[in-house]
Amino acid sequence: MASLSKRSTFSSRIGFVLAAAGSAVGLGNIWRFPYLAAKYGGGTFLLVYIILAVTFGFSLMIAEIALGRKTRLSAIGAYRALNRKCSFIGVLSSVIPIIIVPYYCVIGGWVTKYIEVYLTGQGPAAASDTFFNSFISSSVSPLVWLAVFVLAAGVIVFLGVEKGIEKASKILMPALVILTLIIVGFALTMENAGPGIAYYFIPDFSKFSVNLVLAALGQLFYSMSLAMGIMITYGSYMPKDTNLEKSVSQIELFDTGIAILAGLMIVPAVFAFSGGDETMLQSGPSLMFITLPKVFQKMPLGNVVGALFFILVFFAALTSAISLLETVISIFADRLKCSRKVICVGVVAFTLLAAIPSSLGFGVWSGFTIFGFSILDFFDFLSNSVLMPIVAFLTCIFIGFVVKPKTIIEEVELSAKFRRKKMFVVIIKYVAPLCIIAILVSSVLNAFGVISL
Ligand code: PHE
Repeated sequence: MASLSKRSTFSSRIGFVLAAAGSAVGLGNIWRFPYLAAKYGGGTFLLVYIILAVTFGFSLMIAEIALGRKTRLSAIGAYRALNRKCSFIGVLSSVIPIIIVPYYCVIGGWVTKYIEVYLTGQGPAAASDTFFNSFISSSVSPLVWLAVFVLAAGVIVFLGVEKGIEKASKILMPALVILTLIIVGFALTMENAGPGIAYYFIPDFSKFSVNLVLAALGQLFYSMSLAMGIMITYGSYMPKDTNLEKSVSQIELFDTGIAILAGLMIVPAVFAFSGGDETMLQSGPSLMFITLPKVFQKMPLGNVVGALFFILVFFAALTSAISLLETVISIFADRLKCSRKVICVGVVAFTLLAAIPSSLGFGVWSGFTIFGFSILDFFDFLSNSVLMPIVAFLTCIFIGFVVKPKTIIEEVELSAKFRRKKMFVVIIKYVAPLCIIAILVSSVLNAFGVISL
């Protein structure tokens, strides 16, 4: 195991916050949050999401970061260090980033391709109905863009925690905020933006339902990169004197702020484009790659906005992919004797190879499905809808009843007073486990068509 003294750390609190926010802010914020908000009555969804973020999201995130900082180990070692019998939770949570990283990078490759599309003036072609599907169903091109994306993330991770991840986050995250504000500015000054803005913000309480709460909870997990060892790993690089509670609040603010702003760049624009037809907003993944290019084509300076938009998405996806790669690397670095750099090369090579089936699943291997899912969608379902709720549930039980909340509270209080301590205990012991079971059951039933979320 890595010795305490050798473990790298972030050099500053702001470096840690930006890196963790970099993991949290990703594709989930930019395309998934806006369409969920649009689907579930705009303001109503926003309100529920914010309440869940500052209670439920806060508690799980602070628990994971404290677990990492306390043990100075990544997931497997962290659980084992506190209770040998529970190391299986760490093993299970480590499987999740290993499953996610290949397919996340496939989508990262698509985003990279779209930067090239807009920079080389192919915006009008991208606005056609067939462009996206013919790109992802070809064999070689998506693999080339996948490699570009993985290598970009790989180089940053190779450079290390402080010189690679922290430095990159300090540049990419502010750039991401600036790009977001520019595009929001464009979207809000568009003709006919008003009705879409109203649709996005004014709560429609008739859309309030249990499904809305479950959808918001599921989104929260994914968006905050919880229950997959990422925050444990990043916590293990956090200096002991850094204020944990304040850092978690800032990460949440960043993540939720960018999600809400992403809605402002997308919802009014698509709403105006479709003449108020809500179904276009709910087209899922194709919203970003098929619908938005059509919207950009209708906008003044649409090619410029399109290029800026995909650069923004690229930064968001890149910092998330970095956190996934780092988590996988640290799992092996804690256990194997070889150097971090060798492990890094191995993990990048694994990612490239393991991503091939997910990519080809839209082309030559499209006939191959698992339970009716494409290969990529199957991995997405398995990790997000099945394994993540299971790990989150086990984590709550582990903290609430095995090592007891005081283990986390003591760690948080090493640096400052834990202000939301009472709330944390109630949520981690009782509220969170019950809600997580509800998410798990509903998402599995939904996937197999028993209920419709
Ligand atoms: N949190 C990221 C997002 O919102 C998604 C993500 C999931 C990132 C898993 C890393 C790992 O898109």
